[in-house]
Order: sequence, then C-alpha cells, then structure tokens
Amino acid sequence: MKIAFAGKGGVGKTSLCAWVADWLARSGKNVWLVDADTALSLGQASGLDADALPEPLVLRGDLVRERIHEGGFLNLNPEVGDLPEELAVDVPLGGEPLPGVEPGRKRLIVMGAVTNAGGGCACDANALLKALLAHIVMDRDEWVLVDLEAGVEHLGRGTVAHVDGLVVVSEPSMRSLRTGAEVGRMAADLGLDNQVLVLNRYTGGEPPQLDGLPEWRMSVPVLDGLAERQMTDASVLGLPESALLDGLARALLDGLAARERGETGGN
Ligand SMILES: Nc1ncnc2c1ncn2[C@@H]1O[C@H](COP(=O)(O)OP(=O)(O)O)[C@@H](O)[C@H]1O
Ligand SMILES: [Mg+2]
Repeated sequence: MKIAFAGKGGVGKTSLCAWVADWLARSGKNVWLVDADTALSLGQASGLDADALPEPLVLRGDLVRERIHEGGFLNLNPEVGDLPEELAVDVPLGGEPLPGVEPGRKRLIVMGAVTNAGGGCACDANALLKALLAHIVMDRDEWVLVDLEAGVEHLGRGTVAHVDGLVVVSEPSMRSLRTGAEVGRMAADLGLDNQVLVLNRYTGGEPPQLDGLPEWRMSVPVLDGLAERQMTDASVLGLPESALLDGLARALLDGLAARERGETGGN
C-alpha cells in the first residue's frame, strides 16, 4: 500500500509516519520512507544520526543535470527507476521484530525543499522530484509512506491517483483542524477519498464537523515518554508507549486496507 501523511506543521505527521513504518518493518514488511517535507526530519525521528541522513535529491545537481538535461535536451519524463536504490539509506528498526518474524527493510529517501533561492535549476529539480515520487508510488510493489509538507499538492494528480490512503494528522485545535479539512477536501477533489483523521495529543472532546475533514477518526494521546525524552533524543521510536503505538498503526493500516477494498473500516 501507498500512504501519504499530511496536515498542518507541528501536528505529528513525521512522528506518525515513523511509528507506522517501524511497525511495518518489525512485522516483516519492506518499507520505503519518503521525506517530502522541507523540515527533513523523518530520518532523525526514525532514529538516524544527523550525519547518516541521505543527501536530499534536490541538492543532487549532478543527477538533475544528468536526467533532466540528458543529451542536451530537456527531458521532463526522465528515467528514475534506479534512483530509489541510489538515494536511499537503510534505517535501523526502532525495536524488536514481532516474535518469529523476519524483519523488513526500512529505507529512507529525502526529497528536500525545492526553492528558487539558488535560481536557475529549481524547476529542473522539481521535475526530477515529481518523476521520482511518481515512480515510487506507481511502479513499486512495496510499502511506501510519504511524509508531506502540508497538503497533497506536491504529489500531482497522476501520482495521487496511485496513493491508497491519506492520513490527515491534526491536533485537537480549530486551526489545525481547519488545515486538515482543507487538505482532506483537496485530496478528495483529486480522487483520494480513502482518508483517516488522526487526532494527535488528544485529550477528549468531539471535533467540529468541518467540510472536508475525514469522517473516520483515530486518536493518539499525549505521550509522556516522548515529551520527556525529546529534549535529548530526536528519535520518536522505542518509547515506553510503543505497544499503544503498534496497536494504533495496525488499526490504521487495517482500516485503510478495508476501506480500499470497499468494506467499511473500523470507527
Ligand atoms: N502524541 C504526542 N505526544 C507528545 N509529543 C508528541 C506527540 N506527537 C508528536 N509529538 C512531538 O511534537 C513535535 C512535532 O511532531 P512532528 O511529528 O515533527 O510534527 P510534524 O511532522 O507534523 O511537523 C515533535 O517534537 C514530536 O516529538
Ligand atoms: Mg514533519
């Protein structure tokens, strides 16, 4: 399955993506983690040292030139099939694999921020980024989790069509729920209507009915173990609450899969 994580900044997208990926790998699945957020924190949240992070694709001027300007022509449909292996870094498991399970591989690809700051080649880098995202999402028969900047606009219509589920992450606050509703609406307009709302740092209460907010909801409580540890450790894995997070990841994936098959997912 291919799953994207979206929502307002700071709500827990990257953490949730890291938790779900770790659960998958510990239950024997191979997972591609795609960091398409400009904050570039998925690697560190998954326990990679800052100096072990892969170089962001958009900074690989050599690749941008080689693929997009192949043979002196502008190629907006570049060959990228070899790039996941070339760019990815293996990410260690955050805990023990499930009993009797051969753990899967977690691999991280960092896209990086496409800006115009450097001038000139931003659109070329963007074209390569889009082509790579499209390839990973459309042509790879593996688990793919994409940590997005905010909404799904990064993905483009063609790529979105191949995403199986959208996890809209929000805090229990009006501002972040509004962003979540906006993201949900835009994704639904692009045909991605298998969505779940994850209320993170949830302390109770009923969220408002906002047009676009996914109807199926799950919640994650405030994690004291994470709050305590995060001053000194960037990883969100291996927490005292990991059994709870495993249960959540499992329910989330089972529900998205059931909905994808046309059954009604849990509630
Ligand atoms: N349920 C939670 N309880 C406590 N701290 C959390 C929880 N979820 C996320 N955090 C912390 O909140 C901060 C923002 O989370 P992050 O996943 O980076 O958000 P985003 O990717 O949406 O910007 C991080 O420091 C993370 O460790
Ligand atoms: Mg993030």
